[in-house]
Amino acid sequence: MTQPQDAAAGETAAGPFGVLDGVGKTFVAASRGATEVVALERVSYSFRQGELVSLLGPSGCGKTTLLRIIAGMTRASQGRVEIRGREVVGPQEDFGFVFQTPNLLPWRTVLANVLFPMEIAGRNDAAARKRALELLDLVGLASFADSRPHQLSGGMKQRVALCRALVPSPSLLLMDEPFGALDELTRMEMQDLLLDIRHASGTTVVFVTHSISEAIYLADEVLVFSRRPGRVIDRIRVDLAYPRRPELRYTAEFTALEHRAGAGLGVFHERQSA
Ligand SMILES: Nc1ncnc2c1ncn2[C@@H]1O[C@H](COP(=O)(O)OP(=O)(O)OP(=O)(O)O)[C@@H](O)[C@H]1O
Ligand SMILES: [Mg+2]
Repeated sequence: MTQPQDAAAGETAAGPFGVLDGVGKTFVAASRGATEVVALERVSYSFRQGELVSLLGPSGCGKTTLLRIIAGMTRASQGRVEIRGREVVGPQEDFGFVFQTPNLLPWRTVLANVLFPMEIAGRNDAAARKRALELLDLVGLASFADSRPHQLSGGMKQRVALCRALVPSPSLLLMDEPFGALDELTRMEMQDLLLDIRHASGTTVVFVTHSISEAIYLADEVLVFSRRPGRVIDRIRVDLAYPRRPELRYTAEFTALEHRAGAGLGVFHERQSA
């Protein structure tokens, strides 16, 4: 694993690691007569190297769209994204992505799946193989390096996808509901694993989730989004010490943060009596 980098290394004299400056996105419907869809409005935020930021919001509020804009896979309609002082205008080689589904290549072994991005980049050398094996060891899958994806459980596949995203030592890890399809216990294990990896690598992470408790458990800061068009309606600083442990979820401080996020999302509303 790479060692934590000097925090100052990601911060240029000009500012923080990442800046979202008035980002907006309007999709123009392809069919004639259909209206435009305003997915995001005026999203501004800046984050430091090594931070883990959760994007929390209801379905359709533009979380995936924002992640794709940060990744350079979708262009913003308004505003700009800067990472390490440079405007993102296209896909970035040194960003890692983990999606909700692992999307492993079924005919390849676990190790060959993890090495796939290195192969594409023409960097599939002995050092890459060593790092891939170290990562598989870290996530408890060293003995499955020669297995095929169909021999793994959902959680194991997602751990492989995490290794695949980490093998090029990304400067920024973008995660789109990566644990959404897992059962609750596996999900909690994966959250702890992600925090361990983040601690060991110093990687900056932007993590999309619907889950209030997941957003808070992982993050240094939670951005709470409104319904579409997605706007940032609250920023919750999570000043809970790392390493975080599962018991934390049952403390008063944690519950207070969940309550605040829930209120922002509008989960407390009057119910009509029958
Ligand atoms: N390529 C596209 N063309 C047109 N509209 C799009 C496109 N991508 C997303 N949208 C629209 O933008 C809005 C935001 O979509 P997005 O996928 O970013 O939401 P989300 O917050 O990730 O939702 P979920 O939590 O369900 O994944 C939605 O109304 C969606 O229909
Ligand atoms: Mg999404």
